[in-house]
Amino acid sequence: MNLTLKVWRQKAAGAPGQMMEYQARDIIPDMSFLEMLDVVNEGLIAKGGEPIAFDSDCREGICGTCSLVINGVAHGGQRGTTACQLHIRHFKDGQTITIEPWRARGFPVLRDLVTDRGAFDRIIQAGGFVSVNTGGTPDANSLPIAKVASDRSMDAAACIGCGACVAACKNASAMLFVAAKVSHLALLPQGRVERTERVLNMVTQMDAEGFGNCTVTGSCEAVCPKEISLDFIARLNREYGVALLKGAKLQKNTA
Ligand code: SF4
Ligand code: FES
Repeated sequence: MNLTLKVWRQKAAGAPGQMMEYQARDIIPDMSFLEMLDVVNEGLIAKGGEPIAFDSDCREGICGTCSLVINGVAHGGQRGTTACQLHIRHFKDGQTITIEPWRARGFPVLRDLVTDRGAFDRIIQAGGFVSVNTGGTPDANSLPIAKVASDRSMDAAACIGCGACVAACKNASAMLFVAAKVSHLALLPQGRVERTERVLNMVTQMDAEGFGNCTVTGSCEAVCPKEISLDFIARLNREYGVALLKGAKLQKNTA
């Protein structure tokens, strides 16, 4: 297949950027989108050009680093699919494809298609953990958990922290991500101990990072490669409201 690519090129953070056109020739339809970019980059390098910078790691939908907006849609618009799992066969021969980075104040562009998603790490550091005393491995049945709770927690835990929800949202809201992380822990007995401080600290950090508020457009859920449900945002709001009512003090980790 032959494709025309219009790719955002930007030399460094804060530098001006622009869309540049490239030809992707003789691409095998079963290649992944990132493999197609590898082929284009090999051609650029062979001609002495600068390869297109983009993030990837696992290339199997687990790590959440392949942050590309393809034809205006975060991860390219195939339901439940990361950019690294998107295949060229879903495009038409001769098609023009635009490729841009996530665009949100909380995710500044570092170079070409690479953004700094450290804001998500700082939100997790603010409360996305459980504090436990380490020791011997606990007995498997020492803490029974209702199946409905463990299943729901697993649904939330599927979030890979990719940031597509932010990229798709007109408010650049990170609520679906934070909702998934808060819910994943709050649904389990191990996470209930710190649930009040957790939700307050994570939401405070989310706001400090410059992410917007949720106005329930549903665009986050539509592009989420792990199909995290909007229901978790309702759960986050409930957790937050209860925490405020309890008057919990922020225990922000400033270390
Ligand atoms: S909620 Fe979905 S889109 Fe948002 S970071 Fe998690 S996996 Fe990515
Ligand atoms: S490269 Fe890891 S999810 Fe795409």
